[in-house]
Amino acid sequence: MVDLVAWDNAGDRLGLSWSDGRCDTVHALWLRDNSPSAEARHANGQKLFEITDLDDTTVVESVSNGVGSLRIRFAPDGHEADFDLGWLRSHAAPPPASTLRLWGAELADTMPVHGFDTVMADAGARHAWLIDMRDLGFTLLTGVPSEPGTLIDVAESFGFVRETNYGRFFEVRSDPEPINLANTGMGLSCHTDNPYRDPVPGLQLLHCLVGENDGGDSVVVDGFKAATLLRDEDGTSFDLLTRYAVPFRFASADTELCARARLITLDDRGEIAEVRFNNRSISTFDLPADVMPAFYRAYRRFAEVLQRPELEVMFKAGPGDLFMVDNQRVLHGRKTVGGSGRRHLQGCYADKDSMLSTLRVLERQMS
Ligand code: FE2
Repeated sequence: MVDLVAWDNAGDRLGLSWSDGRCDTVHALWLRDNSPSAEARHANGQKLFEITDLDDTTVVESVSNGVGSLRIRFAPDGHEADFDLGWLRSHAAPPPASTLRLWGAELADTMPVHGFDTVMADAGARHAWLIDMRDLGFTLLTGVPSEPGTLIDVAESFGFVRETNYGRFFEVRSDPEPINLANTGMGLSCHTDNPYRDPVPGLQLLHCLVGENDGGDSVVVDGFKAATLLRDEDGTSFDLLTRYAVPFRFASADTELCARARLITLDDRGEIAEVRFNNRSISTFDLPADVMPAFYRAYRRFAEVLQRPELEVMFKAGPGDLFMVDNQRVLHGRKTVGGSGRRHLQGCYADKDSMLSTLRVLERQMS
């Protein structure tokens, strides 16, 4: 148990010293903005005031000890609130380090396999499954009943299905007149799905119902690992792919979808936040002429990294297997489907934020 051992009120900021030696500085306006008092927040946690209601010159007027809390009085508005020490301790610290685990072909030795029956019945097993989804961006569920549409039950066990022009879910099998190359026996190079949508689907589920064919092995590649390698090996190419957006497009008789996006998107801290890569639906580049040669070089470099065998995890999805990927990170593909045997999968998309919400609620219930 870490205690607050001292504070130092400088008016516009407050220094906090903890029993483990950690020292934090929090600002008066930040404290006032986060007041937990009933005047400032509804019982549901939502704020009851506008930022423009707060005075720019807000300072901490006085500080006193409460029971497991710090009572703070502000000037000039005279507002008072009790700040929970646990809340101060967790929110004054820098954001926690990322929990992402990057992987390559070695993941095949420790596949993130989870059982359908247990994740559906047991909160602890469901938690372990969703932790793997969050940190690895890929999991394999086994023992999923081979009933058509069961993948919807799986998606709804943690969140919401993202319906598209392909329907609530779609079939992946050989089709004599395919509108999409997924419905042929051709191999498919690794890609993220539906880059022509904005927003792009966060998760993809693929459930194998029939797998009598030869070949057709599934492949997944960690796009964040590939982007990290590109950044290390060729920083100029990495920078170009994070700076310029390109168009993606899909058209059929009744659909025309277009989105502009970067192949690699960074977050506000400069960390890799999204990879979008799809050789089939990337459209005609409309970059400035003087950028085009270097961009093509960067695009090719990234593709070469993504194709490295040491990044590929290959597995044979059989009946009852359902694999799920974070579609903003992990690319998926398949080798050529051979022979005359039947192969039938069903796919659907789901929202990633609803999965992460379910994970946080599970953590709340388990703590
Ligand atoms: Fe796909």
